[in-house]
Amino acid sequence: MKNPLRGRAIGCSYSGSSVAAHHLIHCPRKEFRSKSMVELLPSILSADFAHLADQIAAAERGGGTVIHVDVMDGHFVPNLTLGPPVVASLRKATRLPLDCHLMIDNPNDFIASFAEAGANWLSVHYEACPHLHRSLQMILHHGMRPGVVINPATRVDLIVDILPMVHHVLVMSVNPGFGGQEFIPFSLHKIHHLAEIRRQLGLTFRIEVDGGVAHNTVAAIVQAGAELLVAGNAVFGAGEPERDARALLTAARDAESLQTVRTVVGDGSKIH
Ligand code: DX5
Ligand code: ZN
Repeated sequence: MKNPLRGRAIGCSYSGSSVAAHHLIHCPRKEFRSKSMVELLPSILSADFAHLADQIAAAERGGGTVIHVDVMDGHFVPNLTLGPPVVASLRKATRLPLDCHLMIDNPNDFIASFAEAGANWLSVHYEACPHLHRSLQMILHHGMRPGVVINPATRVDLIVDILPMVHHVLVMSVNPGFGGQEFIPFSLHKIHHLAEIRRQLGLTFRIEVDGGVAHNTVAAIVQAGAELLVAGNAVFGAGEPERDARALLTAARDAESLQTVRTVVGDGSKIH
């Protein structure tokens, strides 16, 4: 099946100088909100699977811009979810990019199937890929945007050599397999470390975070340097995905604005 979205530039890409500092310093307070890098990726793992199309549409109205799809095999992680046939159905239900997160052993065996089903972004775990470079090349070859995922116990340093190849790095901030878990605090250091490496090497990959992204964690996550925020329970858990997506995204953008102010004027104390 031809996928009109695949291979297109999706969302805004990272730019090393994140704010037009000279433009912002003397503007009134409301103009500190520069173009946002932050995007919300509703994770359908916590959605009502009998009404996925409606749930996704609601999350999109609330500001979700990419749909996060968790693929689990019962081996790499202790849970089972869905595969390419469901992705093919989702493809017909939304025009938003589909970000497929493979939590499976032998992911290379399924890359072609996910491409055919209409996945736009495809990420594989460092821990599941003995030949990670080859896996990322295969994803690129199939016209998708490649991502690498690292578990909480995996050090950022281990993926430095392949960072120029990836569209996104997904930092797992819970142990993968289930929604609704608590954010692991040291993930913030990993996000910050990645952002620093990106800056030092002049790279453009985006930093995605998955697990425990919620109202009480989102500000710290954004301020650490993440811009792709996956959220399952915080969007779908209460059965109000439009309202809750909007509220979470607003909190994320508020934190981002504050970060922008700090970047421009130091501690923000001069803005009054
Ligand atoms: C967990 C999945 C996540 C999950 C996150 O293994 O990869 O995408 O949906 O769920 P929350 O946002 O509820 O922690
Ligand atoms: Zn995920």
